[in-house]
Amino acid sequence: MRKIFIAPSLLGADPLNLTADIERMKNNFDWLHLDIMDAHFVRNLSFGPSFARALRKNYPDAFIDTHLMTDNLETVLPLFIDAGVSLISVHAETESHLLHAVLSQIKNAGIKTGIALCPPTPVTMIESVLNLADLVLVMSVTPGFGGQKFIESSLGKVRELVSIRAVKNYNYLIEIDGGINENNITRVVLAGCDAIVMGSAVFRNNDPALWLEGIRAKIKEGSEDCDRTR
Ligand code: DX5
Ligand code: ZN
Repeated sequence: MRKIFIAPSLLGADPLNLTADIERMKNNFDWLHLDIMDAHFVRNLSFGPSFARALRKNYPDAFIDTHLMTDNLETVLPLFIDAGVSLISVHAETESHLLHAVLSQIKNAGIKTGIALCPPTPVTMIESVLNLADLVLVMSVTPGFGGQKFIESSLGKVRELVSIRAVKNYNYLIEIDGGINENNITRVVLAGCDAIVMGSAVFRNNDPALWLEGIRAKIKEGSEDCDRTR
């Protein structure tokens, strides 16, 4: 059975009780998803590098899955590399002509690389750099805000990435981000996602740890079905 990573998005947590919200999950997660927004690439602002540093300091063993929704990577990228995060995804739509160099910069710093795609962006746009990716993040909502409705057509992109990976013998993980909850998680797993970001669905719960246990069971069912159909 393939391993599927659950990545709660801290954007969905209570900003005044972040550590309490992390503790409420009782380690029933794999990664912490950190959304970085610059009010330019997206229409919102979120966490900065000092927050990422504090997160690393308080959770030295956590896999910090960082999703940069920013322009100006020349300035922003070193700040998050220095903060000690585990993986950095950059959007294909920002400075796309520099994507090869940017991914190499992340890799050379010893950090895992991710390429993120907004809903309208086709996979063809990143085919030439997929060999440099440890992860491809498929956005299933317009980036910028939690709590939006899942865009169903994102699953087609996930299937396309699964088939390119098999044909070309690549190793990237496929992550999906936005609008995922207990009702669509099985479809997401069946499409072939390896990492699943969830924000509002996790933290709106009174008992996120228990809810995540239920999600884990649904994921197990879905991935067993997936293995059977392969
Ligand atoms: C949106 C962010 C997501 C967001 C997901 O731009 O990238 O990570 O927090 O939140 P939900 O699960 O509420 O859609
Ligand atoms: Zn995200």
